[in-house]
Amino acid sequence: MTGSNPLHGNAKPQLFLVAPWLVKADRTGQNLHVSGTMSRFPAIFLILILSLSSSAQVKPGDKENKADPSWPSHYSKGRKTFDGTGKYYMGREISYVMGHQAIRWLERSNREEEEAPSKAIAALNLKPTDVIADIGAGSGYYTFRLAPLVPKGKVVAVDIQPEMIDFLERKEKQLGLTNVEAHLGEVDDTKLKPGSINAALMVDAYHEFSHPREMMESLFKALKPGGRIILLEYRAEDPTVPIKPLHKMSVAQSRKEMEAVGLKWKSTDSKLLPWQHFMIFEKPAGAKGKKRESLEK
Ligand SMILES: C[S@@+](CC[C@H](N)C(=O)[O-])C[C@H]1O[C@@H](n2cnc3c(N)ncnc32)[C@H](O)[C@@H]1O
Repeated sequence: MTGSNPLHGNAKPQLFLVAPWLVKADRTGQNLHVSGTMSRFPAIFLILILSLSSSAQVKPGDKENKADPSWPSHYSKGRKTFDGTGKYYMGREISYVMGHQAIRWLERSNREEEEAPSKAIAALNLKPTDVIADIGAGSGYYTFRLAPLVPKGKVVAVDIQPEMIDFLERKEKQLGLTNVEAHLGEVDDTKLKPGSINAALMVDAYHEFSHPREMMESLFKALKPGGRIILLEYRAEDPTVPIKPLHKMSVAQSRKEMEAVGLKWKSTDSKLLPWQHFMIFEKPAGAKGKKRESLEK
């Protein structure tokens, strides 16, 4: 099973099925619904759309971007590009959420070959007692590979789609595991207890959070002092990575967004994995997180 790639950026003939598995957030980003049925576009139309979508970095001060009174001031409304929400955070357009219909793609048999997740997992250096949250866990591709590494701890698999939670719970039973906790979060709140986790992993998920600021503030609180956030995102700086632009992030943008909530950058490895950056951030001991007023600047 390989599944077709819903995040592919190249207009190849087999990719004319346009994003049937995306979940859309409404204007306020509060409610989620699965987008419509499969649409077929002629090749030329698709190529045109994809090329228009490639410049999604609009600065918050740009004429095109406006404050939306229904959103907190750290978000602005701007040009909605293909696969984007038109909601901007720190100059980045937020992408749509990948729907649960893409589970087959997440679980594809050639994922190791394409993305080398085993290398990423080894580089996490987990302790057997660690409690690690897999934020935006999806089908649990990472969750179920992490669980054996924390036999005296656990993996909390957080997602906002109930279908993903059902899938995670069924798979945990099938595998006979007892240290995986499927956990339904909200778009703007992980719903994790303060100081309850040693680490949080986010693989190809952060860029699609409809409320990245609130999610990171909530995650900051959930981390123990000295706790780590490990962020894996497709490399925006590398045009050869075959993923749609809005599903990629640059190191500079990632650092800006993580540091905005008080996390300290520790390291970036952009060579470990074939397609993704592997970045580590830490909650400094004694840190309380940044206040909103200073975040707005
Ligand atoms: C592209 S999938 C990646 C799944 C998994 N990390 C993997 O690599 O196999 C992104 C997941 O993030 C989830 N997600 C989106 N926004 C979220 C949020 N605010 N909190 C938790 N999960 C979220 C989506 O429901 C989806 O399952």
